[in-house]
Amino acid sequence: MKRIPEPQLMTNPEQVSAYALADFEKPHSNFIKLFYDKFPESEVRGKAIDLGCGPGDITFRFASEFPEIDIHAIDGSGEMIRYAKMLISSMTGIKERVQFLQTLLDEYSPDCKYDYIISNSLLHHLLDPMVLWKSIDRFCKAGSKIFIMDLFRPESLEEAKSLTDKYTVNEPDVLRNDFHNSLLAAFRADEVRGQIRKAGHDLSVEKVSDRHIIIYGSV
Ligand SMILES: C[S@@+](CC[C@H](N)C(=O)[O-])C[C@H]1O[C@@H](n2cnc3c(N)ncnc32)[C@H](O)[C@@H]1O
Repeated sequence: MKRIPEPQLMTNPEQVSAYALADFEKPHSNFIKLFYDKFPESEVRGKAIDLGCGPGDITFRFASEFPEIDIHAIDGSGEMIRYAKMLISSMTGIKERVQFLQTLLDEYSPDCKYDYIISNSLLHHLLDPMVLWKSIDRFCKAGSKIFIMDLFRPESLEEAKSLTDKYTVNEPDVLRNDFHNSLLAAFRADEVRGQIRKAGHDLSVEKVSDRHIIIYGSV
């Protein structure tokens, strides 16, 4: 099935609040678990960047799990960043270590290099996926670790519909439509491998569920 891109930024207030209120407990707790599996070293410390952070759930979980991490979390949508800042304002213990910033990925020029790049569900939003892989050179130093999770595109429209029914059954229509469109916009694992090769990186790509892949490794 051919990829059907979706709009890059999530800016519609109804869409943003449905996304922020959705139950992502399973995939997002799995994000942290898989990070541990792939980087089983005892100390996770330093600076991390969360790319396409949305309303911040992955950022909050990563900051809570790793108390010696400072995180910059970026998103091009002002509505998402507003939501994330509102949510974190009452989170003592992490709010001092997290900075949310509204910026497009390719326009962000940090004044530091990061020890970790993390990202969840950004890749399938990008019109040009190479923007993500090129950011690794700009944001990382030798030894930085990359951990990215995203959807992969199903084989057929019927499979996309059945995954949508399976995983968004109790969600509002706006979220069901978003999830369905995201599946159609996602890249297949072999396409992601090609992108990474083209960017000159050596990262692993693995399917970890019926809809998710992870991309991980050190640079
Ligand atoms: C599906 S959401 C994922 C949010 C969050 N990472 C999570 O897992 O809950 C994708 C986010 O990427 C943002 N985004 C898309 N393209 C972007 C770009 N080029 N630069 C920065 N953010 C972008 C969107 O605005 C949206 O908030």
